[in-house]
Amino acid sequence: MLDVTFVKAGLPKAGAVVVLLSEGGVPSALHAALDGASGGLVARALEAAGFKGRAGQSATVWAPGLGITKLVAVGMGAPGALTPDGAEAVGGAIWPLVSGETEATIAADGVDMVVAIRVALGASLRSYRFDLYRTKEKPEDKPKLSGLNIALPDPAAARAAYAPFKAVAEGVFMARDLVSEPPNVLHPVEMAERCRALEKLGVQVDILGPKEMRKLGFGALLGVAMGSAIEPRMVAMRWNGISGGKGRGRRGEKPICFIGKGVTFDTGGISIKSAGGMEDMKWDMAGAGCVIGLMAALAGRRAKCDVVGLVGLVENMPSGTAQRPGDVVTTASGQTVEVINTDAEGRLVLADVIHYAIEKYDPRWMIDLATLTGAIIVALGHEHAGLFSNDDTLAGQVEAAGKSTGELCWRLPLSEAYDKQIKSDIADMKNVGTRAGGSITAAQFIQRFVQGRPWVHLDIAGTAWATKDLPTAPKGATGFGVRLLDRLVADHFEG
Ligand code: BES
Ligand code: MN
Ligand code: ZN
Repeated sequence: MLDVTFVKAGLPKAGAVVVLLSEGGVPSALHAALDGASGGLVARALEAAGFKGRAGQSATVWAPGLGITKLVAVGMGAPGALTPDGAEAVGGAIWPLVSGETEATIAADGVDMVVAIRVALGASLRSYRFDLYRTKEKPEDKPKLSGLNIALPDPAAARAAYAPFKAVAEGVFMARDLVSEPPNVLHPVEMAERCRALEKLGVQVDILGPKEMRKLGFGALLGVAMGSAIEPRMVAMRWNGISGGKGRGRRGEKPICFIGKGVTFDTGGISIKSAGGMEDMKWDMAGAGCVIGLMAALAGRRAKCDVVGLVGLVENMPSGTAQRPGDVVTTASGQTVEVINTDAEGRLVLADVIHYAIEKYDPRWMIDLATLTGAIIVALGHEHAGLFSNDDTLAGQVEAAGKSTGELCWRLPLSEAYDKQIKSDIADMKNVGTRAGGSITAAQFIQRFVQGRPWVHLDIAGTAWATKDLPTAPKGATGFGVRLLDRLVADHFEG
């Protein structure tokens, strides 16, 4: 992760210097000093480049005469108009402009400390790379910058304020790493082992295998796992933040639960998917990746909240031992499901894990995340995750947290009429409806396992992975949900 260092504002003597300039605003003292040292050449160069300070605008002035490589002016828009989310996008835009340098300093002496911190976070998030399996990359093709200096008046205060954001960024990176890993490496057994890394942050990690799950009656999850040569796992990660990570939390205080779909590869099973793009299904565990990254973020910043993260980890494969369309499975809740389509496997996994969450932890509320349906991409594209809920308050809080982190959610309806679609002739329900409203019937299926508890379901099939660079994420795994849910907890469920 990009190493962010807060330093006292003084004239940098090497590398790139980034100056943050508002439209028509007063330039920072540092910028004025650099301009002065150049005899006004910097200002003239920026003017000649047509730089006005508009949000998203940037201009580079090569300035070896100032003892630095270059000065990069970055626009912040109208003074005071920048949102925190916008500040992160500015930071994200800075990264590619400085990543080829060995040293870089952002002159943040002219902006609010809060803005400076979010710019640093944005740059850090954007600097993510997954290069574990590139053995032949030339040094000149790799970013050189490993540290970023932020120059401002009170570095000690900024350092303290940045610490929790850094923990969240680490959680995001962990989620992205998991989602990026190829499916031969990151199978259910391996993914469960990776959760153990959270133990050093004070998270209690319990791993359940098929034996335990059989005892618990996880017929739906185990049905999905039947076709795979690799055993399924369920991992429970508990963070007792109210008691500082030790003990069992305050008496009488119910925890909150986050539940993630962790299908490490989804072939569709016997209802097999077509070949084109099937490699994408390695990221069908992004819901679980998010829950694991979120637990790392919350524990990393010592969040004052009792939280349990649960992930159901399976591989959905076709084979002689795979479950068939037409099979009837009995879920942990006792409800039976006719499996019409083995490719609608995520909801089967979630059904058992959600039931377990309720029975074991008696949560105040629950949020599940899943790359559940292709239909959500048809409905919302890649701009919003689908949000479904039986609780208007919690739904509103999640939506608001989405707006303030830039991880947007859009609520879709649930109702009896949709629920009718999953009636079965032979069992309590079937696992698919018609094509109409496919994301909603999937959510209706999950709702049958929440026992009326406050619950939000996020369908992240469209947002877990980006095919182009985003403001604060390079293309690939986004880590969607970590920042959103961390913010939800921080805004409403701590202290
Ligand atoms: N993992 C997929 C959903 C998915 C599709 C995520 C495309 C990301 C991109 C899920 O398990 C699935 O296969 N859903 C089916 C449901 C259908 C069989 C009712 C789908 O969306 O086609
Ligand atoms: Mn599927
Ligand atoms: Zn799937």
